[in-house]
Amino acid sequence: MASTATMSDSASHPGWLRLTHWLNALAVLIMVTSGWRIYNASPLFGFSFPQALTFGGWLGGALQWHFAGMWLLFANGVFYLMLNIASGRLLRRFFPLSPRGVLRDLSTALRGKLVHDDLSHYNQVQRLAYLFAIVDITLLVLSGLVLWKSVQFGLLRELLGGYETARRVHFGAMALLMAFVAVHLVMVALVPRTLLLMITGKGGKAS
Ligand code: HEM
Repeated sequence: MASTATMSDSASHPGWLRLTHWLNALAVLIMVTSGWRIYNASPLFGFSFPQALTFGGWLGGALQWHFAGMWLLFANGVFYLMLNIASGRLLRRFFPLSPRGVLRDLSTALRGKLVHDDLSHYNQVQRLAYLFAIVDITLLVLSGLVLWKSVQFGLLRELLGGYETARRVHFGAMALLMAFVAVHLVMVALVPRTLLLMITGKGGKAS
């Protein structure tokens, strides 16, 4: 979709955004693969994850990685959110957002008619997907806190429907995040210029 945005490339993908994005991707990788190892030790459903896709070696090791990765995910996420909100970028890049706008941009995308001239502008499907990822990771952290210290976070545990429900919420949020990442990677592969922009901060405008 064409944009009227006049921001420079690095203003749309500033250094702190690129750094926190890649640290977040690393933290998610550690959390998901060590989480699968922990899950395999006591599967909630009738299947296990292939051992080769898990990380941490053994249950104790995976738990250590999961706790270490949690601090990276949490601290990096708080830093990203604070800067995104304080700089006004969150409002600028992710809003306005409406069901009508999402349907319009989705239909344009499915017809292969989205314009990618100006990558400093997110279409409404992207906005929704990115906001979803942010909310979903927040839910992962909150439900993780309940599984980690269920007694200390008693109120949160009750809000999430109890320990057993929190376990299912944690698993469901992980599955949805993986669905997001799968679609995200396909979209990046379709418009590789976005990757250059997320790495270097340059190349947002088509020449
Ligand atoms: C693993 C978990 C990941 C999550 C949760 C995630 C999430 C996000 C979010 C929320 C944004 C928007 C950030 C903002 O503008 O404030 C974003 C942008 C982006 N991500 Fe990721 N990401 C992940 C992994 C990756 C990976 C592995 C790649 C590339 C191989 C990637 C490439 C990109 C690119 C290129 C953009 C910019 C898209 C554009 O400018 O249109 N991401 N990601």
